Amino acid sequence: METPIKILGIESSCDETAAAVIINGRTVASNVISSQIEIHKLYGGVVPEIASRKHIEKVNQVIEEALKEAETSLDEIDAIAVTYGPGLVGALLVGLSAAKAISFAKNIPLVGVHHIEGHISANYIEHPDLEPPFLCLVVSGGHTHLVAVKEYGEYEIIGRTRDDAAGEAFDKVARAIGLGYPGGPKIDKLSKEGDSSAIAFPRAKVENAPYDFSFSGLKSAVLNYINSCQMKGEEVNKANVAASFQKAVIDVLVEHTMNAAKNLGYKKVAIAGGVASNGNLKQALLKECQKENIEFYSPSPIYCTDNAAMIAVAGYYEYQKGVRSGLDLNAVPNLKIGQR
Ligand code: KG4
Ligand code: ZN
Repeated sequence: METPIKILGIESSCDETAAAVIINGRTVASNVISSQIEIHKLYGGVVPEIASRKHIEKVNQVIEEALKEAETSLDEIDAIAVTYGPGLVGALLVGLSAAKAISFAKNIPLVGVHHIEGHISANYIEHPDLEPPFLCLVVSGGHTHLVAVKEYGEYEIIGRTRDDAAGEAFDKVARAIGLGYPGGPKIDKLSKEGDSSAIAFPRAKVENAPYDFSFSGLKSAVLNYINSCQMKGEEVNKANVAASFQKAVIDVLVEHTMNAAKNLGYKKVAIAGGVASNGNLKQALLKECQKENIEFYSPSPIYCTDNAAMIAVAGYYEYQKGVRSGLDLNAVPNLKIGQR
């Protein structure tokens, strides 16, 4: 039997310090996540300077825990996969510096990973049958992309948001109705008590770009609706706002994804990123995929939001292709998908 390949993944691009060990690209031996949400909540969003400091406090501990939980040591690690962009530069640098230090000290190959390519790769963890080509809807706090995964590590962007990311829209609307940060899970929960057809919010289309998204008009429509209620002295039904807003986002995401899948002939559709943990979005996509005889894949919520298991999985496929990063690998805050 061949010796299994063990990848240590490290992620610190935003407000989660995470490390994980993945075996042969698909099996999770450990997945340790230290979230800073409780601290950033106090400020209504992620404060970059605080994020960097907290990453420094946690990174070594999280890596040690990941190795311990996986019952392994650095001597058995074949490569270190680390997020080097996109993300907050100060936050990225912490994980990256830790990864480079270990790589240098222990002479372990280093593989730089794109955060979004990591999110997409989260789908491989629980779906051993999933292989490219497939279409993936990436919906996170900072990104909304429709990505064609042509081969392992080979991506083409089919559509993107022109303004706010889907998660950002969730966070901003949540703040407007006083739900706090992060808004996505809170809107998800509150919308279960509301009527999604109560308020007619817009479903935006981008002219001549059928797979692109725009959420800023929807966000403004929600804010205008709240203002007009207040002007009239009417009480805002928060649950109805949450449910109607969420439905407007989901309708657009599902419509564009399904059109792209059908027009481009994809038989497999996946979803990734923090917003992919939204139950209604998953259900809506699953239903449409079933109608079209398209296979639908989604990660469990723990692999949707930021984690290092997904980074190690993406890193495994890069490692297998022979990709190695030098110790001069730098953080790239606006790294593009497919860029090296
Ligand atoms: O992927 P992620 O953890 O971080 C980024 O790379 O951005 O995504 C975080 C985003 C936040 O905007 C959060 O509000 C949203 O994902 N989110 C959700 C849900 N859970 C997290 N949005 C809608 N419904 C959810 N259940
Ligand atoms: Zn993310």
